Amino acid sequence: MSERMYIFDTTLRDGEQSPGASMNQQEKRRLARQLDQLGVDVIEAGFPASSQGEFESVREISSVIEKAQVAALSRCSNPDIDRAWEAIKEARRPRIHTFLATSNIHMQHKLNMTREQVLEAVANAVTRAAGYTENIEFSAEDASRSDWDFLARVLETAIGCGATTVNIPDTVGYTQPQEFSELILYLKKQVKNIDQAVISVHCHNDLGLAVANTLAALDAGARQAEVTLNGIGERAGNAALEEVIMALKVREDIHRLQTGVDSEQLYPACRLLSMIIGQPISAYKAIVGGNAFAHEAGIHQHGMIQNKQTYEIMTPDSIGRPPSEMVMGKHSGRHACQQRLEQLGYRLEPEQLDIVFAAVKKLADIKKQIFVEDLEALVLEEVFRIPDKYKLLYLSSLSGNMAIPTATLKMVVDGQEKQLSEFGVGPIDAVFNGISKIVDRSPELANFSITGITGGTDAQGEVTVKLEEGERTAVGRGSDPDIIVASAKAYINALNRLAKREEEKICVEL
Ligand code: KIV
Ligand code: ZN
Repeated sequence: MSERMYIFDTTLRDGEQSPGASMNQQEKRRLARQLDQLGVDVIEAGFPASSQGEFESVREISSVIEKAQVAALSRCSNPDIDRAWEAIKEARRPRIHTFLATSNIHMQHKLNMTREQVLEAVANAVTRAAGYTENIEFSAEDASRSDWDFLARVLETAIGCGATTVNIPDTVGYTQPQEFSELILYLKKQVKNIDQAVISVHCHNDLGLAVANTLAALDAGARQAEVTLNGIGERAGNAALEEVIMALKVREDIHRLQTGVDSEQLYPACRLLSMIIGQPISAYKAIVGGNAFAHEAGIHQHGMIQNKQTYEIMTPDSIGRPPSEMVMGKHSGRHACQQRLEQLGYRLEPEQLDIVFAAVKKLADIKKQIFVEDLEALVLEEVFRIPDKYKLLYLSSLSGNMAIPTATLKMVVDGQEKQLSEFGVGPIDAVFNGISKIVDRSPELANFSITGITGGTDAQGEVTVKLEEGERTAVGRGSDPDIIVASAKAYINALNRLAKREEEKICVEL
């Protein structure tokens, strides 16, 4: 018999705080809903004490999540814990997640605290949290580089004061599967009250071992895994949710663990995140990468035709990957559109569906076949777009080997219409120069990439741009059958994100 374990998703907290992964409130709410549909047990919604914007967004997520527990992160300080509780108290199942570092290097150089002070701070913080809820998680930051004996004392203290989950993070991605497994076994033996708490693990991927370390810890008795979609997170990221889930599922014979995750929602969830943050999934990414189920070599194709199991250890269906065939055409109706969207994991409000359906019709006028990817791009562009400070109204571009590339643009900037024409070395340069002038900002273009969303010359172009302005960076994306328009949309989307980040300036660093 397999034992039930818990999945704690931190895409919206540890994932979101990594470069290029920031999301606005509406995008976070959308992703949180998808995570709830996916069946994770806990959604870490954010770190409320870090900014007003973060607080609001945790509060909003708390009010819309129906099944999962909603966790808020806080340092071990009274104001942080109070703020975390304020943000999640309306959630059906709120959890306070408080953390403090326990390694010598962190205690000496970052916290400037002695071991006794750390023990006292943990006891105070967990006791404070216990005044609000019985659902408390304590994380010993940099646990994997901590003195094991001291770590055991800290965990015992946290549990003694009311922590019901104790998390062992490999904060810097340093541990190895064997060592991490031994650490979990050690803690199970040495922490006297360990049976009163769930052991959790939280692995970073600096040495490419986050998933392997997570699985080793689960095999040793941990019963909660902290993960993110697509493995996004600080530096090299966190353990990827979809990889942990499918490893547990495909090799249940070894791990003997079950989760509440509906694996058929994995692909829609990973795609949604990728679309929201504008970061494409690598073709070689395990489980959800473009090549993950592609069989190119003749010998493989031959084997697959005889029996799929020759080269396939799981099916595309099992992760909810739709066949990339034509999904809609000019004559498809609103109902078909809704059905397709639901298959892709998008449950839209009627007015959102109206907007997407109108966009599908418009696209179908210029493009014969509408594919899954087109549909997703439209949903993102039309429904989950960041509220516009800058908006494109009109764009005309001139280029060619006998013309000076020129862009004429009309935009809305803070509610006011502005227009101008501008030159460039090429049409995209002209458009970007024009937009910069209109909005009166001149960020560095750190990255520009363009791909066809699907095959064919009538395919929509998908453009991703990364802008840098001082210390701030933002990624924007845009799609359109006209690649110049797609580029303008991506550039403006990134500018809107920069403007948003300015407003929601994070005042406290983790
Ligand atoms: O990596 C880490 O240690 C963390 C903690 C706050 C859990 O993200
Ligand atoms: Zn982390």
